[in-house]
Amino acid sequence: MKSQDIRKAYLQFFESKGHLIVPSAPIVLKDDPTLMFNNSGMAQFKEFFLGNGTPKSKRIADTQKCLRVSGKHNDLEDVGFDTYHHTMFEMLGNWSFGDYFKKEALAWAWEFLTEVLKLDKDRLYVSVFEGNPSENVPFDQEAFDIWKQYVSEDRIILGNKKDNFWEMGDQGPCGPCSEIHIDLRTDAERAAVSGRSLVNADHPQVVEIWNNVFMEFNRKADGSLEKLPAQHVDTGMGFERLCMAMQNVTSNYDTDVFTPLIAKVEEITGLKYTSNEVKNISEEQNKTNIAIRVIVDHVRAVAFAIADGQLPSNGGAGYVIRRILRRAIRYGFTFLNTKEPFINKLVPVLADQMGEFFPEIKSQQQLVTNVIREEEASFLRTLEQGLQLLDKVVAEATGKEIKGEKVFELYDTFGFPKDLTALILKEKGYSFNESEFDAELQKQKDRSRAASEVSTEDWQVLIPGNVETFVGYDQTENEVKITRIRKVDSKKDGVLYQIVLDNTPFYPEGGGQVGDKGTLVSANETIDIIDTKKENNLILHFAKQLPENVSATFVAKVNTDLRTSTSKNHSATHLMHLALRTVLGTHVEQKGSLVNAERTRFDFAHNAPVTDAQIREIEAKVNAEILANAAAQARVMDIESAQKTGAMMLFGEKY
Ligand code: ALA
Repeated sequence: MKSQDIRKAYLQFFESKGHLIVPSAPIVLKDDPTLMFNNSGMAQFKEFFLGNGTPKSKRIADTQKCLRVSGKHNDLEDVGFDTYHHTMFEMLGNWSFGDYFKKEALAWAWEFLTEVLKLDKDRLYVSVFEGNPSENVPFDQEAFDIWKQYVSEDRIILGNKKDNFWEMGDQGPCGPCSEIHIDLRTDAERAAVSGRSLVNADHPQVVEIWNNVFMEFNRKADGSLEKLPAQHVDTGMGFERLCMAMQNVTSNYDTDVFTPLIAKVEEITGLKYTSNEVKNISEEQNKTNIAIRVIVDHVRAVAFAIADGQLPSNGGAGYVIRRILRRAIRYGFTFLNTKEPFINKLVPVLADQMGEFFPEIKSQQQLVTNVIREEEASFLRTLEQGLQLLDKVVAEATGKEIKGEKVFELYDTFGFPKDLTALILKEKGYSFNESEFDAELQKQKDRSRAASEVSTEDWQVLIPGNVETFVGYDQTENEVKITRIRKVDSKKDGVLYQIVLDNTPFYPEGGGQVGDKGTLVSANETIDIIDTKKENNLILHFAKQLPENVSATFVAKVNTDLRTSTSKNHSATHLMHLALRTVLGTHVEQKGSLVNAERTRFDFAHNAPVTDAQIREIEAKVNAEILANAAAQARVMDIESAQKTGAMMLFGEKY
């Protein structure tokens, strides 16, 4: 089966089991401070598990673009060296929100794999949670008994907390899980060594394909587990691994998810990739293979991140993307001898291959290509500069060992990777002091950790089960109750309290517009709200202190002077966007924006400097619109109706 058909079969199967099929959420997360990127299918549904919102359907399925390159789930350094880890991968998932539970989830997983896809039952193993007394979570007898209906007991493996208790991060929903593993070795290999002994043992051909998590708990900030209000199912199947199993190959890179990209790299570099079936390859060929795997993996991650609105940059998520791309450039530079930008040429191949299912990669193809090409060109220049500096360092060296500080400086200031430096030095007959380098790196890490340290306490819930309503489109003042509060202590901002209300007129920060400021006023006291932000589905009001009486009734009052100025600037931003598109062309899309009471900033990409004449024309157009005094309105409507009114969609936004 082709990968496209495997994906379709999965979605059709779960549709037939009453699931609503939804599109993948953007790979980049905008309003969850605990995660930079979507690292699993459930991330976009986190709040439903916690009871802070209601899903469109109690049964949902999708394929989610995931990125595991930071935080708790990070595979970056493995990618390229093995045949089954990726930075970006697709996770096929089905969810029950307080609806079906273990019996249906496991039965359907088994039915899909063995009856729809007709995978060989003799190659499948399953695992269940063995229990953990210190967490007070028992052995999962229920899952064990369900599996016994489908497989013999010797195919059921008991797993510990590391393998069979899934958590999205240090905090948040979690629960015991049951995995399905597949053994793709040859018959002879399988006869010699039982697959059972290779499950969860990092064997490249005995791999987990599907995880069924039974979400029952919330991991709190103090490390304890709290029962969730309802039981849910969260499943995730590695799409590329499933394709490997279905296409009778032993490497994800030998499936049609990757072969078109590999063929393009071969065409560009004139080098050959050897499939995993070819044994006894030379050391040289092995290096070529690793580099090609790194590149075809990384281009997907970078291209989809850019298409979803995350440009490479110097900080945060943008920096992670820049580092992934630089890793790919460097592998090409060192092992494929590519001295000119070429990774951008893979984007059209990717768009052809994935565009039908993920239209964003087609609609953003030009932008993605341009951004990658620019990044490549600039990093290749950096590499050249680094090489010259390295020559200087070597010329000035007294012995054959270079100081670790020098290598760190190259790494820190020029992004020149340590192992590349080591390789070049080696060719010149030099080495460098690793422990000095490591000490410098550690110092830098300590500095940045200290600067970003945040401790977030658990929510103190005053009114449970409330779903906050936003009334700010029509009101700037309303009577409210506090539903929950939380203390956050960060190096940057000191101690702040986050307050959630039963309803709120406060606009949270979003789309570049700063959050509202204002007050909470009760009969006896007034609390200043210094900022408003959205986190998942909650609107958080920030205050430096809590009211004495948190259960009082308050009037939430937005500072309307600030709000009015800010909203004028926001309207001006839209007018400017329209004028920019009219004068410069429709490629002008919002890449970033900051709107506050004093000013507006709008970032966009254009292939040349904007001339003075163009700036005057843009200004004139904006001013003409202001003088025409068009009415501004904000309305909540579903996405299709909004599109019909001609609303401008900013790519990558989750509406
Ligand atoms: N959320 C689960 C995982 O990522 C299914 O493995």
